Amino acid sequence: MSYQIIKINENYIDGFAQVVDTVARELRYLAFLEGPPREMTMAYVQRNIAENWPHIIALDGEQVIAWADVASLNRPVFEHSGVLGIGILPNYRGQGLGRRLMHTVLEAAQARGLNRVELTVRENNHIAIKLYESLGFLHEGRHINAVKIHGQYENHLSMALLF
Ligand SMILES: CC(C)(COP(=O)(O)OP(=O)(O)OC[C@H]1O[C@@H](n2cnc3c(N)ncnc32)[C@H](O)[C@@H]1OP(=O)(O)O)[C@@H](O)C(=O)NCCC(=O)NCCS
Repeated sequence: MSYQIIKINENYIDGFAQVVDTVARELRYLAFLEGPPREMTMAYVQRNIAENWPHIIALDGEQVIAWADVASLNRPVFEHSGVLGIGILPNYRGQGLGRRLMHTVLEAAQARGLNRVELTVRENNHIAIKLYESLGFLHEGRHINAVKIHGQYENHLSMALLF
């Protein structure tokens, strides 16, 4: 199945927020228990648009089903870098969409002149880790017990892709 991948715009902020919230509430993949408050998401997306940080979404019809972004690390010394986030609604996983989104968002990161894309991923997220490795991301470290959800600790891995 082929879905439309577009740059995010203001019309899709709530749809994007909904996907983040749904994936967060699964509790297995992100380092969030739920999506951030609406004003925070709004400011985040508006900044990505205004400053041309790569932020794409996938649409099934008009429904946002996935996103990928590479966002600012908020300091002049990190201007050459961005932090990657990605998530897909459960029913749309395992069909090649994640790989397509990664290719598209990394191309945009390179086109923006970034030299480094970094991320953290929970150590049990084997599918995401394999995907990142296959795209050339290197392992940079392990943050032991960095995540704790309902009393369960999990390590966080740091990975980065250098252009
Ligand atoms: C991680 C995620 C973005 C990957 O996207 P996806 O569309 O499911 O993955 P794809 O279908 O593009 O497959 C990518 C690779 O993952 C592997 N993979 C995908 N589904 C798999 C499964 N069910 N079992 C084992 N491997 C699987 C395949 O090896 C595939 O590689 P290939 O292209 O060489 O076949 C997606 O599963 C997701 O949103 N997960 C929840 C949120 C998340 O983990 N975000 C990342 C937080 S750091």
